[in-house]
Amino acid sequence: MLSASAPLTRQQPARSAADAASGEGIFMAQCGFCHGRDATGGQTGPDLTDSDLVGADVNGDKIGPVVRGGRVEKGMPPFSLSDGDLKKVVEFIHERKKAVDANPGRRRQVSVADLSTGSVDAGRAYFDGAGACKTCHSPTGDLVGIASKYRGLALMQRMLNPTPGNAVAPAAGQKRKPNWATATITFASGQSVTGPVAYRDEFTIAITDSAGYYRSWPTSEVKVSIKDPLQAHADLLPKYTDADIHNLFAYLQTLK
Ligand code: HEC
Ligand code: HEC
Repeated sequence: MLSASAPLTRQQPARSAADAASGEGIFMAQCGFCHGRDATGGQTGPDLTDSDLVGADVNGDKIGPVVRGGRVEKGMPPFSLSDGDLKKVVEFIHERKKAVDANPGRRRQVSVADLSTGSVDAGRAYFDGAGACKTCHSPTGDLVGIASKYRGLALMQRMLNPTPGNAVAPAAGQKRKPNWATATITFASGQSVTGPVAYRDEFTIAITDSAGYYRSWPTSEVKVSIKDPLQAHADLLPKYTDADIHNLFAYLQTLK
Protein backbone atom coordinates (compact mmCIF):
# COMPACT_ATOMS: atom_id res chain seq x y z
CA MET A 1 0.00 0.00 0.00
CA LEU A 2 1.10 3.47 -0.70
CA SER A 3 -0.64 5.97 1.46
CA ALA A 4 -0.95 9.51 0.23
CA SER A 5 0.52 10.89 3.40
CA ALA A 6 3.61 8.71 3.28
CA PRO A 7 6.73 10.21 1.80
CA LEU A 8 7.74 8.49 -1.42
CA THR A 9 11.41 9.09 -1.12
CA ARG A 10 13.27 6.35 0.63
CA GLN A 11 14.40 8.00 3.80
CA GLN A 12 16.39 5.55 5.80
CA PRO A 13 15.73 5.79 9.51
CA ALA A 14 18.70 6.94 11.53
CA ARG A 15 20.93 3.99 12.26
CA SER A 16 19.97 2.71 15.66
CA ALA A 17 22.66 1.48 17.94
CA ALA A 18 21.89 -2.12 17.09
CA ASP A 19 24.24 -4.73 18.39
CA ALA A 20 26.07 -6.11 15.37
CA ALA A 21 25.31 -9.67 16.46
CA SER A 22 21.58 -9.05 16.95
CA GLY A 23 19.04 -9.92 14.27
CA GLU A 24 18.69 -6.24 13.49
CA GLY A 25 22.46 -5.79 13.30
CA ILE A 26 22.91 -8.72 10.95
CA PHE A 27 19.97 -7.63 8.84
CA MET A 28 21.30 -4.07 8.56
CA ALA A 29 24.72 -5.30 7.54
CA GLN A 30 23.74 -8.07 5.12
CA CYS A 31 20.25 -7.36 3.88
CA GLY A 32 19.50 -3.72 4.57
CA PHE A 33 21.40 -2.49 1.56
CA CYS A 34 18.73 -3.97 -0.70
CA HIS A 35 15.68 -4.43 1.53
CA GLY A 36 16.01 -1.24 3.54
CA ARG A 37 17.36 -1.23 7.08
CA ASP A 38 13.89 -1.70 8.47
CA ALA A 39 12.96 -4.39 5.89
CA THR A 40 10.32 -2.22 4.20
CA GLY A 41 12.14 -2.29 0.90
CA GLY A 42 14.99 -0.42 -0.71
CA GLN A 43 16.26 0.52 -4.12
CA THR A 44 16.97 -3.04 -5.15
CA GLY A 45 15.01 -5.36 -2.88
CA PRO A 46 11.30 -5.73 -2.13
CA ASP A 47 9.45 -4.84 1.04
CA LEU A 48 9.73 -7.94 3.22
CA THR A 49 7.05 -6.78 5.66
CA ASP A 50 4.58 -6.95 2.79
CA SER A 51 5.73 -10.27 1.37
CA ASP A 52 3.37 -13.27 1.12
CA LEU A 53 6.35 -15.55 1.55
CA VAL A 54 7.23 -13.88 4.84
CA GLY A 55 3.57 -14.03 5.85
CA ALA A 56 3.55 -17.79 5.27
CA ASP A 57 6.90 -18.39 6.96
CA VAL A 58 7.08 -20.40 10.17
CA ASN A 59 10.42 -20.23 11.97
CA GLY A 60 12.35 -19.67 8.79
CA ASP A 61 10.97 -22.58 6.75
CA LYS A 62 10.28 -20.26 3.80
CA ILE A 63 12.76 -17.43 4.42
CA GLY A 64 15.70 -19.76 5.13
CA PRO A 65 15.83 -21.36 1.68
CA VAL A 66 15.64 -17.95 -0.04
CA VAL A 67 18.51 -16.64 2.07
CA ARG A 68 20.64 -19.77 1.66
CA GLY A 69 19.92 -20.24 -2.02
CA GLY A 70 19.48 -16.62 -3.07
CA ARG A 71 17.54 -15.71 -6.18
CA VAL A 72 20.53 -14.95 -8.26
CA GLU A 73 18.74 -14.31 -11.53
CA LYS A 74 16.55 -11.74 -9.75
CA GLY A 75 19.40 -9.96 -8.03
CA MET A 76 19.57 -11.61 -4.62
CA PRO A 77 22.83 -13.41 -3.85
CA PRO A 78 22.98 -16.54 -1.65
CA PHE A 79 24.09 -16.09 1.98
CA SER A 80 25.93 -18.57 4.14
CA LEU A 81 24.67 -17.43 7.55
CA SER A 82 25.09 -19.74 10.53
CA ASP A 83 21.88 -21.36 11.80
CA GLY A 84 21.97 -19.07 14.83
CA ASP A 85 22.36 -15.91 12.77
CA LEU A 86 19.68 -16.97 10.31
CA LYS A 87 17.28 -17.58 13.18
CA LYS A 88 17.91 -14.07 14.52
CA VAL A 89 17.43 -12.50 11.10
CA VAL A 90 14.17 -14.39 10.61
CA GLU A 91 12.94 -13.22 14.00
CA PHE A 92 13.87 -9.66 13.13
CA ILE A 93 11.92 -9.81 9.85
CA HIS A 94 8.85 -11.13 11.68
CA GLU A 95 9.14 -8.42 14.30
CA ARG A 96 9.29 -5.79 11.58
CA LYS A 97 6.29 -7.31 9.83
CA LYS A 98 4.29 -7.25 13.06
CA ALA A 99 5.23 -3.64 13.67
CA VAL A 100 4.25 -2.55 10.17
CA ASP A 101 1.03 -4.62 10.13
CA ALA A 102 0.05 -2.94 13.39
CA ASN A 103 0.66 0.46 11.85
CA PRO A 104 0.18 0.12 8.09
CA GLY A 105 0.33 3.88 7.53
CA ARG A 106 4.03 3.58 8.08
CA ARG A 107 4.49 1.22 5.18
CA ARG A 108 6.38 3.36 2.72
CA GLN A 109 6.95 0.81 0.07
CA VAL A 110 4.83 0.27 -2.99
CA SER A 111 4.08 -3.42 -3.16
CA VAL A 112 4.29 -5.22 -6.46
CA ALA A 113 0.85 -6.78 -6.06
CA ASP A 114 -0.47 -3.28 -5.65
CA LEU A 115 1.05 -2.17 -8.93
CA SER A 116 -1.39 -3.77 -11.30
CA THR A 117 -4.38 -1.66 -10.34
CA GLY A 118 -3.82 1.35 -12.58
CA SER A 119 -5.54 2.45 -15.77
CA VAL A 120 -3.43 2.71 -18.92
CA ASP A 121 -5.64 5.43 -20.41
CA ALA A 122 -5.60 7.54 -17.29
CA GLY A 123 -1.83 7.08 -17.13
CA ARG A 124 -1.39 8.23 -20.71
CA ALA A 125 -3.59 11.25 -20.02
CA TYR A 126 -1.48 12.13 -16.99
CA PHE A 127 1.71 11.65 -18.98
CA ASP A 128 0.53 14.01 -21.71
CA GLY A 129 -1.29 16.40 -19.40
CA ALA A 130 -1.01 17.06 -15.68
CA GLY A 131 2.35 15.35 -15.27
CA ALA A 132 3.88 17.15 -18.25
CA CYS A 133 6.06 14.08 -18.72
CA LYS A 134 5.93 14.51 -22.45
CA THR A 135 7.77 17.81 -22.27
CA CYS A 136 10.88 15.73 -21.55
CA HIS A 137 10.02 12.17 -22.58
CA SER A 138 8.44 10.38 -25.46
CA PRO A 139 6.83 6.93 -25.50
CA THR A 140 8.27 6.43 -28.98
CA GLY A 141 11.63 8.04 -28.18
CA ASP A 142 13.66 7.78 -25.01
CA LEU A 143 11.11 5.64 -23.16
CA VAL A 144 10.78 2.99 -25.85
CA GLY A 145 11.45 -0.36 -24.19
CA ILE A 146 11.50 1.06 -20.65
CA ALA A 147 9.18 -1.74 -19.45
CA SER A 148 11.55 -4.39 -20.80
CA LYS A 149 14.55 -2.69 -19.30
CA TYR A 150 13.09 -2.38 -15.81
CA ARG A 151 10.40 -4.61 -14.39
CA GLY A 152 7.99 -4.35 -11.49
CA LEU A 153 9.28 -2.41 -8.57
CA ALA A 154 12.47 -1.48 -10.41
CA LEU A 155 10.43 0.32 -13.06
CA MET A 156 8.36 2.02 -10.40
CA GLN A 157 11.44 3.20 -8.60
CA ARG A 158 13.09 4.36 -11.78
CA MET A 159 9.98 6.35 -12.65
CA LEU A 160 9.68 7.94 -9.22
CA ASN A 161 13.30 8.55 -8.50
CA PRO A 162 15.59 8.23 -11.49
CA THR A 163 19.28 8.73 -10.94
CA PRO A 164 21.23 10.20 -13.80
CA GLY A 165 23.41 8.41 -16.25
CA ASN A 166 21.31 5.31 -16.56
CA ALA A 167 19.14 6.14 -19.49
CA VAL A 168 17.98 3.79 -22.16
CA ALA A 169 20.47 4.01 -25.01
CA PRO A 170 19.41 6.85 -27.28
CA ALA A 171 17.70 5.89 -30.51
CA ALA A 172 19.81 6.21 -33.66
CA GLY A 173 20.60 9.80 -34.46
CA GLN A 174 19.22 11.03 -31.14
CA LYS A 175 21.68 12.70 -28.79
CA ARG A 176 21.25 12.90 -25.04
CA LYS A 177 23.37 14.81 -22.64
CA PRO A 178 24.40 13.25 -19.36
CA ASN A 179 21.93 14.36 -16.76
CA TRP A 180 24.15 15.41 -13.92
CA ALA A 181 23.23 18.60 -12.13
CA THR A 182 25.57 21.45 -13.02
CA ALA A 183 26.40 24.41 -10.84
CA THR A 184 27.54 27.85 -11.83
CA ILE A 185 29.60 29.44 -9.08
CA THR A 186 29.93 33.22 -9.23
CA PHE A 187 32.63 34.92 -7.16
CA ALA A 188 32.64 38.37 -5.62
CA SER A 189 34.88 39.49 -8.49
CA GLY A 190 32.10 38.67 -10.90
CA GLN A 191 33.98 35.78 -12.48
CA SER A 192 32.28 32.42 -12.60
CA VAL A 193 32.90 28.73 -13.23
CA THR A 194 30.46 26.03 -14.25
CA GLY A 195 30.75 22.29 -13.84
CA PRO A 196 29.01 19.11 -12.74
CA VAL A 197 28.09 19.13 -9.06
CA ALA A 198 30.50 16.92 -7.14
CA TYR A 199 29.12 17.68 -3.68
CA ARG A 200 26.46 19.92 -2.27
CA ASP A 201 25.09 20.69 1.16
CA GLU A 202 23.96 23.77 3.01
CA PHE A 203 27.51 24.99 3.62
CA THR A 204 29.60 23.66 0.78
CA ILE A 205 29.38 23.53 -2.97
CA ALA A 206 31.84 21.56 -5.04
CA ILE A 207 32.17 20.91 -8.73
CA THR A 208 34.46 18.93 -10.95
CA ASP A 209 36.19 21.53 -13.09
CA SER A 210 37.01 21.20 -16.77
CA ALA A 211 40.44 19.76 -15.95
CA GLY A 212 38.80 17.08 -13.79
CA TYR A 213 39.73 18.59 -10.42
CA TYR A 214 37.44 18.69 -7.40
CA ARG A 215 36.95 22.32 -6.36
CA SER A 216 34.88 23.43 -3.40
CA TRP A 217 33.76 26.70 -1.83
CA PRO A 218 31.80 27.73 1.26
CA THR A 219 28.32 28.64 0.05
CA SER A 220 28.51 31.79 2.18
CA GLU A 221 31.25 33.23 -0.06
CA VAL A 222 29.94 32.57 -3.54
CA LYS A 223 26.72 32.76 -5.48
CA VAL A 224 25.50 29.37 -6.59
CA SER A 225 23.02 28.58 -9.29
CA ILE A 226 22.15 24.97 -9.96
CA LYS A 227 20.63 23.40 -13.00
CA ASP A 228 19.37 19.92 -12.27
CA PRO A 229 17.70 18.00 -15.10
CA LEU A 230 16.05 15.78 -12.52
CA GLN A 231 14.56 18.65 -10.56
CA ALA A 232 11.22 17.97 -12.28
CA HIS A 233 11.19 14.50 -10.75
CA ALA A 234 11.92 15.81 -7.28
CA ASP A 235 9.12 18.35 -7.72
CA LEU A 236 6.68 15.68 -8.89
CA LEU A 237 7.13 13.41 -5.87
CA PRO A 238 4.95 15.34 -3.45
CA LYS A 239 2.33 15.97 -6.15
CA TYR A 240 1.48 12.46 -7.28
CA THR A 241 -1.57 10.83 -5.79
CA ASP A 242 -1.70 7.05 -5.35
CA ALA A 243 -3.92 6.85 -8.40
CA ASP A 244 -1.54 8.93 -10.54
CA ILE A 245 1.32 6.60 -9.67
CA HIS A 246 -0.61 3.44 -10.41
CA ASN A 247 -2.00 4.82 -13.67
CA LEU A 248 1.37 6.07 -14.86
CA PHE A 249 2.92 2.76 -13.98
CA ALA A 250 0.23 0.88 -15.94
CA TYR A 251 0.93 3.13 -18.90
CA LEU A 252 4.72 2.77 -18.73
CA GLN A 253 4.30 -0.99 -18.59
CA THR A 254 2.87 -0.88 -22.10
CA LEU A 255 6.17 0.57 -23.40
CA LYS A 256 7.84 -2.75 -24.00
C1 HEC B 1 21.74 -7.44 -3.48
C2 HEC B 1 20.39 -7.24 -3.01
C3 HEC B 1 19.82 -8.15 -1.94
C4 HEC B 1 20.38 -8.50 -0.73
C5 HEC B 1 21.72 -8.07 -0.18
C6 HEC B 1 19.40 -9.33 -0.08
N1 HEC B 1 18.30 -9.49 -0.87
FE1 HEC B 1 16.64 -10.54 -0.42
N2 HEC B 1 15.89 -10.15 -2.25
C7 HEC B 1 16.46 -9.34 -3.20
C8 HEC B 1 15.62 -9.31 -4.39
C9 HEC B 1 15.89 -8.53 -5.66
C10 HEC B 1 14.51 -10.14 -4.11
C11 HEC B 1 13.33 -10.42 -5.00
C12 HEC B 1 13.57 -11.66 -5.80
C13 HEC B 1 12.35 -11.98 -6.63
O1 HEC B 1 11.78 -11.09 -7.24
O2 HEC B 1 12.00 -13.15 -6.63
C14 HEC B 1 14.72 -10.66 -2.75
C15 HEC B 1 13.85 -11.52 -2.11
C16 HEC B 1 13.94 -11.87 -0.79
C17 HEC B 1 12.95 -12.66 -0.09
C18 HEC B 1 11.69 -13.25 -0.70
C19 HEC B 1 10.58 -12.25 -0.68
C20 HEC B 1 9.38 -12.75 -1.41
O3 HEC B 1 8.30 -12.25 -1.12
O4 HEC B 1 9.50 -13.60 -2.31
C21 HEC B 1 13.39 -12.80 1.19
C22 HEC B 1 12.68 -13.51 2.33
C23 HEC B 1 14.65 -12.10 1.28
N3 HEC B 1 14.95 -11.56 0.06
C24 HEC B 1 15.40 -12.00 2.43
C25 HEC B 1 16.67 -11.47 2.47
C26 HEC B 1 17.53 -11.53 3.63
C27 HEC B 1 17.13 -12.09 4.98
C28 HEC B 1 18.71 -10.96 3.26
C29 HEC B 1 19.98 -10.81 4.11
C30 HEC B 1 20.50 -12.02 4.68
C31 HEC B 1 18.59 -10.53 1.90
N4 HEC B 1 17.35 -10.87 1.45
C32 HEC B 1 19.58 -9.87 1.19
C33 HEC B 1 17.65 -8.65 -3.08
C34 HEC B 1 18.52 -8.78 -2.02
C1 HEC C 1 11.76 18.51 -17.00
C2 HEC C 1 12.06 17.22 -17.55
C3 HEC C 1 11.37 15.98 -17.01
C4 HEC C 1 10.03 15.78 -16.72
C5 HEC C 1 8.90 16.80 -16.74
C6 HEC C 1 9.89 14.39 -16.39
N1 HEC C 1 11.08 13.76 -16.46
FE1 HEC C 1 11.41 11.76 -16.30
N2 HEC C 1 13.40 12.06 -16.46
C7 HEC C 1 14.01 13.26 -16.76
C8 HEC C 1 15.44 13.07 -16.78
C9 HEC C 1 16.49 14.13 -17.04
C10 HEC C 1 15.66 11.70 -16.51
C11 HEC C 1 16.98 10.98 -16.36
C12 HEC C 1 17.33 10.22 -17.57
C13 HEC C 1 18.60 9.45 -17.27
O1 HEC C 1 19.66 10.02 -17.33
O2 HEC C 1 18.50 8.25 -16.97
C14 HEC C 1 14.35 11.11 -16.34
C15 HEC C 1 14.14 9.75 -16.12
C16 HEC C 1 12.91 9.14 -16.17
C17 HEC C 1 12.70 7.72 -16.19
C18 HEC C 1 13.81 6.66 -16.18
C19 HEC C 1 14.35 6.53 -17.58
C20 HEC C 1 15.47 5.53 -17.68
O3 HEC C 1 15.83 5.21 -18.82
O4 HEC C 1 15.99 5.06 -16.68
C21 HEC C 1 11.35 7.50 -16.25
C22 HEC C 1 10.64 6.16 -16.30
C23 HEC C 1 10.73 8.79 -16.24
N3 HEC C 1 11.71 9.76 -16.20
C24 HEC C 1 9.37 9.00 -16.27
C25 HEC C 1 8.78 10.25 -16.14
C26 HEC C 1 7.38 10.45 -15.96
C27 HEC C 1 6.35 9.33 -15.90
C28 HEC C 1 7.18 11.79 -15.88
C29 HEC C 1 5.90 12.54 -15.63
C30 HEC C 1 5.13 12.18 -14.45
C31 HEC C 1 8.49 12.44 -16.02
N4 HEC C 1 9.43 11.46 -16.17
C32 HEC C 1 8.69 13.80 -16.04
C33 HEC C 1 13.37 14.46 -16.99
C34 HEC C 1 12.02 14.69 -16.83
